[in-house]
Amino acid sequence: MPYTRAPRRKVTVIGAGNVGATVAQRVVETGLADVVLLDIVPGLPQGKALDLAEAAPILGYDVSVTGTNDYADTAGSAVIVVTSGLARQPGMSRDDLLAKNAQIVGGVVEQAAKVSPDAVIVVVTNPLDAMCHVALKTSGFPPSRVIGMAGVLDSARFRTFVAMELGVSPANTSAFVLGGHGDTMVPVPSYCTVGGVPITQLLSQEQIERIVQRTRDGGAEIVALLKSGSAYYAPGAATGEMIDAILEDRQKILPCAAYLGGEYGVQGLFVGVPVRLGRQGVVEIVEVTLSDDERRQFDHSAAAVKELVEKLATLS
Ligand code: LAC
Repeated sequence: MPYTRAPRRKVTVIGAGNVGATVAQRVVETGLADVVLLDIVPGLPQGKALDLAEAAPILGYDVSVTGTNDYADTAGSAVIVVTSGLARQPGMSRDDLLAKNAQIVGGVVEQAAKVSPDAVIVVVTNPLDAMCHVALKTSGFPPSRVIGMAGVLDSARFRTFVAMELGVSPANTSAFVLGGHGDTMVPVPSYCTVGGVPITQLLSQEQIERIVQRTRDGGAEIVALLKSGSAYYAPGAATGEMIDAILEDRQKILPCAAYLGGEYGVQGLFVGVPVRLGRQGVVEIVEVTLSDDERRQFDHSAAAVKELVEKLATLS
């Protein structure tokens, strides 16, 4: 007998490219929420959603996943993930994407926010910190409900390289990366630990410097290898962790791009910092003590974000 079950909470993923589809896969495989995958290309989100739905009997999830080109289908979402935009090509910086992606992100956020006024927006499109500003402005949401995904990814790269260097389990590592999601990002070795042991006691200064630089270049390393497009497995996993923390109100501290209102001496800018995430989005911005050098690097990174946001203002 046909029966239509009551809808579960909903996550909308905008952009059915590699990152969007991987985020959708993470959410359905963990059974977190129903997923609506939206893209402007007819057939693309429908095809990927059907493909994901057909994996359900094997993997055992029973949340629904649907593809659409119509924002009406996204109404009432708890989380909106924005991945749409152009991806980096070899030789391109994240900032080269500024003008084009500002237009795309502005358009999608306007339509999605209208039908899901209580959602938390997770921005993934680059240049990340600037796109958070576009999302904040266009949605009219409070800053606590607009969050950028970058720190979890950059920290995961940092942790991966530490694990590789020491031959330890990646899950045994803990770290965060501060600042903008760009060449000026600030991996902070003094807060990076393996099983609680600071890496400054496990690795030489030279090893740490090499890992820090590889982390900064982490996105470009993948772009150079793939030759077309950019990373998506780790970005998908990082976004999935944030969605889980939000939907399950986990009150987890994760590095994210958050709107600073005076914290870290920064006013009115999205910059990567540790935040406590819960159902309402950013519950708290966690301020940590930095050394003079780390502080200088953080300020330099925040200045780079500011410059980009100012460039953005001249475009609109
Ligand atoms: C990265 C690009 C997508 O870090 O920013 O992989």
